[in-house]
Amino acid sequence: MGRRKVTIVGAGRVGATATQMLAKKDICDVVLLNRTASTAAGIALDIAESSVVEGFDSKVIGTGDYAAMDGSDVVAITAGEQRKEGMSRDDLLKVNANIVASVCEQVKAHAPNSKLIILTNPLDAMVYLAKKKSGFQRERVIGMAGVLDSSRFGTFTAEQLGVGYSNVSALVLGGHGDFMVPMPRHTTVSGVPITNLLDAQRIKSIADRTRDAGAEIIKLEGSSAFYAPAASLVKMIDAIINDRKSLLPCSAVLSGEYGISGVMGVPVVLGSGGIERIVEIQLSDEERAAIRTSAGKIAESVMLIDKMGF
Ligand code: 2OP
Repeated sequence: MGRRKVTIVGAGRVGATATQMLAKKDICDVVLLNRTASTAAGIALDIAESSVVEGFDSKVIGTGDYAAMDGSDVVAITAGEQRKEGMSRDDLLKVNANIVASVCEQVKAHAPNSKLIILTNPLDAMVYLAKKKSGFQRERVIGMAGVLDSSRFGTFTAEQLGVGYSNVSALVLGGHGDFMVPMPRHTTVSGVPITNLLDAQRIKSIADRTRDAGAEIIKLEGSSAFYAPAASLVKMIDAIINDRKSLLPCSAVLSGEYGISGVMGVPVVLGSGGIERIVEIQLSDEERAAIRTSAGKIAESVMLIDKMGF
């Protein structure tokens, strides 16, 4: 078997940053695909030219030709319009549904055995759409959101407690939106749940900041986050490419798990088969209610997609 191959669709800031991270960590060869081919080609060439100084062997190419994704182990879709200030993730639904649907047709034609990771917002609805348009089994359609939201929750937790970031293991479930569900009982500092370390008021303010974290970046920077989203994607790709069997919160298509038939951010085991297992953890009444509310919001977007005739 030669080197593993990953295609990143969309050479925006998330796609470009993820491409660089994958190459720098020598995880796989990368095809960066973009509607404007020269943009992808330029970014790929620039990253490739860092190979000798960084000391990696990953090959990086940029193109506008979908045939270049042939044989990819993973295809990640980052293409789409991004949120602007004051815009909700759902406002993006219509524009981005068209983009994701057409990319999925190409994935079906050129990389029918790949695992598909979706980053385009509104995330959970796009996972539903990608599953529908690709025809892939649910094991191979995975949404990136929980890893990012958990990293944000963990970051704010570490800062609040004055401990190093790497001590923290955080968990956020639910949809990637205003109804995401931070899980304080399952967020720990070296094994100690933060419910033992912080009062309810502090935990609430960290959870609220996590929910608004995407918007906070947009407000500061004028455009959407990309370093943490790209790092989260790379963690998922690494889990799949290296068959790490990593337990990570991802958006997945459920058939009855957690009492839900639909898309939801839940803990899954990611390995070379994609989603190898959906892990059902015990929820408190409060957590269960929050997950239900989140599921209801996602179902509304899913209904819109069906109504739009995809
Ligand atoms: C974020 O949370 C844009 O949804 C993305 O930053």
